[in-house]
Amino acid sequence: MEKLNGKKRLKVCVFISGRGTNLKSLIKFSQKKNSKIKISLVVSNNKKAKGLVIAKKYKIKCLIVNYLNKNKAEDKILTNLKKNNINFICLAGFMKIISKKIINKYSGKILNIHPSLLPKYKGLDTHKRVIMNKEKFSGCTIHLVNPKLDSGKIILQKKIKVLKNDDEKSLAKRLIKIENELYPIALKKFLSTNL
Ligand code: GRF
Repeated sequence: MEKLNGKKRLKVCVFISGRGTNLKSLIKFSQKKNSKIKISLVVSNNKKAKGLVIAKKYKIKCLIVNYLNKNKAEDKILTNLKKNNINFICLAGFMKIISKKIINKYSGKILNIHPSLLPKYKGLDTHKRVIMNKEKFSGCTIHLVNPKLDSGKIILQKKIKVLKNDDEKSLAKRLIKIENELYPIALKKFLSTNL
């Protein structure tokens, strides 16, 4: 833990692969007065991820890892998590599945955001499947990460209506705003009850 203004702050690492809107909302949350977290590291498997530009703007250290060799990539990640004294991880659009090697080291300390009402629509292409199945509702979920894909304990969920004329794109566009709002709230809720 790092002491800032006399208060302990969790050192958080955010894993991304792309745009980084959830990363941005977590950064903003971390900068609030009396925040309990500091985002100390951003990990990306994609060197072109737009989220890296956001991280740099906020002067957050970035680690880019090549996933051609997953084992080596995860070793590099673990080394850097340790080096930066990271004690909590938020997955925010990270498109790789993290293995037990990382999960066991950070057991109960990894959150993920998923754009569906879990346990429905685990995995990829959630919006496409929701539209195809003519669901009336969709939503997003923040959950703990365990070794099973998108299956850990649910921390917070928000439901939205799927509109008549919605397609994959319009649904995703509406939902991402909800995701960005909900992730910090879920993190705050989780930290206040678990750490
Ligand atoms: C979000 O929809 C998130 O739920 C999913 O990937 C997307 C990431 O978006 N896992 P962003 O990079 O945070 O903008």
